Amino acid sequence: MILKNKNIIISAGATGVGWAAAKILHNRGANIFLCDINKSAVKKINANKIYKNKIYAFLCNADEEKEIIDFFKNIQKITNKIDCLINNVGISGPTGLIEKLSYKDWEQTLKTNVIGHFLFTKHAIPMLKKNKSGSIINISSTAGIYGFPLRSPYASSKWATIGFTKTAAMELGKFKIRVNAILPGSIKGVRMNKVIKAQAKSLGVSEKKVEQEFLSASSMSCWIEENDIGKLCSFLISDDGNKISGQSIAVDGNGLR
Ligand SMILES: NC(=O)c1ccc[n+]([C@@H]2O[C@H](COP(=O)([O-])OP(=O)(O)OC[C@H]3O[C@@H](n4cnc5c(N)ncnc54)[C@H](O)[C@@H]3O)[C@@H](O)[C@H]2O)c1
Repeated sequence: MILKNKNIIISAGATGVGWAAAKILHNRGANIFLCDINKSAVKKINANKIYKNKIYAFLCNADEEKEIIDFFKNIQKITNKIDCLINNVGISGPTGLIEKLSYKDWEQTLKTNVIGHFLFTKHAIPMLKKNKSGSIINISSTAGIYGFPLRSPYASSKWATIGFTKTAAMELGKFKIRVNAILPGSIKGVRMNKVIKAQAKSLGVSEKKVEQEFLSASSMSCWIEENDIGKLCSFLISDDGNKISGQSIAVDGNGLR
């Protein structure tokens, strides 16, 4: 139980990567406070007796600061001690050539993926400072170290996450608060299926061809599993990771491009 009694906040944690992480961290002893806009997923988690008083799910839109403030108020009704924030929220954004994309597409992607992380961090810092130590994990992407043709808003947002991580690690180091970014490669699941479909349509090629292209982008030629991200979160939050800060760590089977 390497995370016994750790209290962890996860944004957009009711499905996908965030939910996989929530289950792993909970199994290793942590209490989870997650939020999401997916009403049915939030309801389902709260209705599951296995998670009672262990995983708390709240409705909260990462695009709305007022809802984030209310989310933190709700957490503080249960505990004042927070050990970690996982900034997991992130939308795929549009698929298309730069000259075809709209201002609105760009604005929404940056709002959720960059400003969303800022807002959760802003409201978590006072609690982490009170705790006199802690960890912030920002979920970026390998799109944050490579280019990503047809996904310029997403790639830009994920590069921004790395700049934010480095800066926050410098500001917060003296408070023993560590800040790191995790950069997943392509994760097998609903979201990547949608991305592959959109990319195949945009390029006029088969989905199989796009899928092969994604796989050949790493020397291990593998899809990443949702659980792979939760396992790295667990290490970074635990005492084993207590001197790791300001780092961008890829989980991508050795990405080549
Ligand atoms: N899936 C991948 O292949 C992949 C690869 C690299 C990085 N990532 C990153 O990992 C993170 C999680 O990805 P995922 O695949 O689980 O995402 P996802 O698209 O499956 O969505 C996960 C959750 O986010 C919630 N959500 C969306 N907008 C929200 C908002 N404004 N406020 C609150 N909740 C919101 C959804 O309801 C959903 O429950 C993201 O930051 C993503 O960019 C994913």
